[in-house]
Amino acid sequence: MKTYSLLTLALMGVFVSCRQETGSDTEMKQKVDSLLSVMTLEEKAGQLTLFTSGWDVTGPVMREEYRQDIASGRCGNLLNAHGVSYNRELQKLAVEESRLGIPLLFGYDVIHGFKTIFPIPLAEACSWDTALVRKTAALSAREAAAAGLNWTFNPMVDLCRDPRWGRIAEGSGEDPLLGSMMAAARVKGYQGTDLSDPFTLAACVKHFAAYGAPEGGRDYNTVDMSERVLREIYLPPYKAAVDAGVASLMTSFNELDGIPATGNRFLLTEILREEWGFEGMVVTDYTSINEMIPHGYARNLKHAGELALSAGVDMDMVGAVFYNHLEESLEEGKITEEMINRSVRRVLEMKYKLGLFDDPFRYLDEEREDSILFAPGLMEHALESARKSIVLLENKPFGGKPVLPLPENLNRIALIGPLAHSRIDMLGTWHASGDTTKVVTLKEGLENQFPNTQILHARGCSVNGTDRSGFGDALSAAMRSDVVVVAVGEYFMQSGEAASRAMPVIPGIQEELVDMLLNTGKPVVVVVMAGRPLILTELAAKTPALVYAWHLGTRAGDAIADILSGEYNPSGKLVVSFPWSAGQIPVYYNHKNTGRPMHPLQKYTSKYLDIPNNPRYPFGYGLSYTTFEYSGLQLSDTLMTMNGSLKVSVQVKNTGEYAGEETVQLYVRDLVGSVTRPVKELKGFRKVWLEPGEETTVTFTLSPDDLKFYTVDMQFAAEPGEFKVFAGGSSVDVLEAGFTLK
Ligand code: NOJ
Repeated sequence: MKTYSLLTLALMGVFVSCRQETGSDTEMKQKVDSLLSVMTLEEKAGQLTLFTSGWDVTGPVMREEYRQDIASGRCGNLLNAHGVSYNRELQKLAVEESRLGIPLLFGYDVIHGFKTIFPIPLAEACSWDTALVRKTAALSAREAAAAGLNWTFNPMVDLCRDPRWGRIAEGSGEDPLLGSMMAAARVKGYQGTDLSDPFTLAACVKHFAAYGAPEGGRDYNTVDMSERVLREIYLPPYKAAVDAGVASLMTSFNELDGIPATGNRFLLTEILREEWGFEGMVVTDYTSINEMIPHGYARNLKHAGELALSAGVDMDMVGAVFYNHLEESLEEGKITEEMINRSVRRVLEMKYKLGLFDDPFRYLDEEREDSILFAPGLMEHALESARKSIVLLENKPFGGKPVLPLPENLNRIALIGPLAHSRIDMLGTWHASGDTTKVVTLKEGLENQFPNTQILHARGCSVNGTDRSGFGDALSAAMRSDVVVVAVGEYFMQSGEAASRAMPVIPGIQEELVDMLLNTGKPVVVVVMAGRPLILTELAAKTPALVYAWHLGTRAGDAIADILSGEYNPSGKLVVSFPWSAGQIPVYYNHKNTGRPMHPLQKYTSKYLDIPNNPRYPFGYGLSYTTFEYSGLQLSDTLMTMNGSLKVSVQVKNTGEYAGEETVQLYVRDLVGSVTRPVKELKGFRKVWLEPGEETTVTFTLSPDDLKFYTVDMQFAAEPGEFKVFAGGSSVDVLEAGFTLK
């Protein structure tokens, strides 16, 4: 049995006194002050250190001796450790073996679920449903917390206009407003209203900042942009997470304007702390302090640590730089004790808020773990979310009527393609502890949904290979069937971190397989499963029905089958533009007009000779089995004053045969500004459910706050002048009106 020193016992007394009143700021301050007053420098560095347990590999491992470090108080936080019994063992080391008994934080990449996996975040954003997204985060937190975790490295809110970048999968697409709303929803979902609730997790917004804009779409590459674009387009989602009360923030790997984000005082102190008032904790990305050396910004590790701490970093993820060099830097006067204390305080405050001082084992309950993992509510929500994430891109008439939904009374469906019965690929990138055995594949989904139809399954080919030996079986299955469903796309490792693709197309010989099936003359439904927008130009032209299913998680197969059968009417709308070709990237809806806007008949205008300017599928686009007609766009006034507002209303009618959900979108354009403005900016959206023949009026309120931007003087203000207003079912399919701001 361990013997406690007097000092430890005295501190435990403080724990006891805290227990009665968790949550009070004064108590938290007293608690943290009392610890800080007795901590050695090594113990302080320990609280600023996050090591990986090595259970799960999400990067290089710098120190294997994490157990020893925990027991000696030199490592106060761990990532990639999960499961109650393992984490309990480690927490015991911290609480019972280390001198001060400070509990550990357990962090993990719970990005779209822990064991039950929900759609990749990019897909889920296509639901345009913040309540759904919030619930996903809350359920993920519940499951992960039950497995002994208390901190997730999410939401990832990096805005991205470039489908070559593999991490586009983790974000919410290209729009700052939608991205901000999704960021806030996820933070609130993970954290709930009380961080000490053992069913919640502390969230960590990442990667600050502008990690989603690497040159050429290549992961970790240089980012350079004007401060105006940074503030107007890229920063709003991080700010929204901060405003929603996010407990922590992660720096990014990239440099910005020549300064690596992890050593960037402008970002981490001026914007984050001074402008936004963020009081939470800042952790680096994985070894990103160390990486300031190859960036050419730090001379050595000690120097890198000094740069990071001075810029505003609190905790070093894996790099062991604070672990090894803090003391020397302090002795040399390169950093101050106040700087160290300030960071330690933030870490201890986060632990306090999580209730860990009250009970270090509050997240570590075996019975709870058994009862919560894969609980029914989780699996149902995984289906709900997956259905709402699917985007129907094409549904052309075939033999007189649209191919989808499929009729009930089919004799045989040929199900072809390498992704038709693959489990792991349904889980997508960053699938945490996702359990493949629980995954429902498309084959299983169709079998459940069409019990009286024979499903003839043939793989055809692999995702990446060139072996055509399976084409024969695929052809024979197709020839014997009424309908062909073919599932192609990317395997799960083809998106996510370090998974950029210069040519974001359907890999391998899969398009050739689809061509062969199209040539049979049978109705063909192509289901694309991928972690990013792929270039679908040729495929879209020849395919009658095209369903974009992303990587949808544990219930993928059920959700897709529900769409194909019409059990669920597709409602997803794209949150990112789909390019015509790789050469068009970046392509996004809120672009500028240029001085020579495209004119098809005039040579000297801004266009390509070989492709259109518009994306293949625009932001906000997505079909339904029904049709929605827009009419009567009206403004309550044609004048808006600087302290007034106006109402924009539009009628939407379900003119088709199915009940369905539509996302009504509102955009504006500021015609003349002290700096040029985008051709459209999303300012609001509303989801409406309409029965066939039903009509409703959707009303939005616009105020000068919605019209603000960074003016020529970098003031965030609205400028008087003329504005256009657009409302419709996508960013291109809109009605138009106008008003003046005075
Ligand atoms: C590196 C990734 O960039 C980051 O998103 C992740 O949270 C960490 N590794 C930890 O796995």
